[in-house]
Amino acid sequence: MKMSGSLGLCCTVLLLALISVSAIKKLNTIEDLKKIDFDRAVPKHSLLLLYWFANEIDIDNNNVMRLTFDPNVGQYGSHHYGNYERMLNPLPQGDIRYQYYTVGNLNNYEAQHQLPAYVLEPPREYRGRNRDRIIFLVHGTGWQPLQIIDEVYMTQHYENSNSGTRYDPAHTYQISTNLLRQLRAFSTEGDNNSLRELIGAIGSNINHSQLRSLIVTWGDIACIGLLLFIIIEEKFYPQNRNWAAKRMNRHFVINMPNSRQNHHGGQVPRHLSVEENVQLVVTTGTNGRARIIWQGVSENHLQKPVMVVLFKDNESQTEMCSKLINSSSGNLDTSVPLDAGLQARLHMTRRKFCFLTAPAEEICRGAEFRNPEKVTLQGYHASLQLFVKNGKACARLFVSKAFGNWRSEFNKSWVGFYTGANKATSEYEWWQWQWATKFQASTPLDPVHDVYEYHSGLTIAPGVQARFILNDDTVLAQTSWR
Ligand SMILES: *[C@@H]1O[C@H](CO)[C@@H](O)[C@H](O)[C@H]1NC(C)=O
Ligand SMILES: *[C@@H]1O[C@H](CO)[C@@H](O)[C@H](O)[C@H]1NC(C)=O
Ligand SMILES: *[C@@H]1O[C@H](CO)[C@@H](O)[C@H](O)[C@H]1NC(C)=O
Ligand SMILES: *[C@@H]1O[C@H](CO)[C@@H](O)[C@H](O)[C@H]1NC(C)=O
Ligand SMILES: *[C@@H]1O[C@H](CO)[C@@H](O)[C@H](O)[C@H]1NC(C)=O
Repeated sequence: MKMSGSLGLCCTVLLLALISVSAIKKLNTIEDLKKIDFDRAVPKHSLLLLYWFANEIDIDNNNVMRLTFDPNVGQYGSHHYGNYERMLNPLPQGDIRYQYYTVGNLNNYEAQHQLPAYVLEPPREYRGRNRDRIIFLVHGTGWQPLQIIDEVYMTQHYENSNSGTRYDPAHTYQISTNLLRQLRAFSTEGDNNSLRELIGAIGSNINHSQLRSLIVTWGDIACIGLLLFIIIEEKFYPQNRNWAAKRMNRHFVINMPNSRQNHHGGQVPRHLSVEENVQLVVTTGTNGRARIIWQGVSENHLQKPVMVVLFKDNESQTEMCSKLINSSSGNLDTSVPLDAGLQARLHMTRRKFCFLTAPAEEICRGAEFRNPEKVTLQGYHASLQLFVKNGKACARLFVSKAFGNWRSEFNKSWVGFYTGANKATSEYEWWQWQWATKFQASTPLDPVHDVYEYHSGLTIAPGVQARFILNDDTVLAQTSWR
């Protein structure tokens, strides 16, 4: 007995020595996280803790991570970690600027009062047994102690209480800054629209019923539910490889429009930094065609040949039409039928043949052309949107899935198209109307509405209207083209 006991101890020591720091796996992307056997090997709750940590700390544009809370006073239940079992790299002895800390013990007053509810009380299947932890290495610069985070680990205590409070090196993973950034892209501020965008960007295969149940379970933090779904349920489905970079760009543009020069410094191409005032807008031209309007192009640019170019949308690289310009403002009537998504950009030019020029390097771009917002049908869980397709006025009905009997409620309802707000209900354009129940089913744009469309033959123009007529003369909604 005694012998086997000391043999066991001996083996443990040997094992610890073997699983040294170099053996700790490093996770760099969400794809790497998918390879972990969550539930059996690692508690699912680890993901919630890691997500919280990723969003709690600060990461700047140079990938420097900074602590936003003070582990020396135990914020969020964090405390010093001695690394006595030498699971992680030993720290320079006597240099108090470097310290390991651990966070994630939920049986702690600060933790219970400071961590968000999704960490403390997530849906049942994501609750853990308080074994998962985050360890992080911090060091101070100058006299400011403990500011910069050098390393982050996801780890857990051994399940077996005989191993005391030690961490399990076989299930300890170093988490890269890149992975933390990817987790931050699942921001909790998102509404249902950004959730859809996120799904589109990542290329997740989630279907509508699954998405609906995520929204039911997680409410306005469904982004977190989506993250867990992708890592745990959808682990064999490959992601779009560039989504994170794209989404981070988008965030950067939307959230920090004024800080571009300060933070990005030399990384922004020179010609972009002087284009703050250029406006490039796609609007409705004549005969349902797209018109480009530009303003604020600097003299500096006009000295070289520059051109405005029309693209199908923000992702497209194929020009649909272009024109050399020589004035700081102006407009161009194109022959391209108007559609949502169209985008104008300003480009340098290159010589193609002797006298033909073609667009070269991009200088800046405008926003995509957007349809008007949908309007609610007064008193019903449904709404009407006027939109353009191929230069023609079209209407889209959004009917809440909860509104099951809409076909009988709207049995006598129709949508008419008008050339202006001054037209009476009966003055819709010749044959430009349709019964609501005869609209064609279309691809749902969100999990809670069914979508139906009708494409009229009326050319889109400012003032054109779609109206929803309940019956006879009762107009429930009208929406106008700008
Ligand atoms: C998202 O959709 C759900 C389900 O319809 C709804 O309850 C929730 O309020 C929506 N959230 C936002 C922010 O629009
Ligand atoms: C959604 O996916 C789940 C799991 O693959 C499947 O069981 C379910 O039938 C799907 N639902 C729809 C509406 O496609
Ligand atoms: C448009 O595309 C650019 C370049 O790919 C990207 O940086 C930007 O985030 C995109 N904007 C939107 C609104 O998607
Ligand atoms: C500017 O361009 C227009 C047409 O593209 C041309 O008629 C005009 O002469 C040009 N003006 C100058 C100053 O080059
Ligand atoms: C409305 O419903 C009645 C009977 O339920 C049916 O006869 C009629 O054709 C319907 N009208 C339309 C426009 O669908």
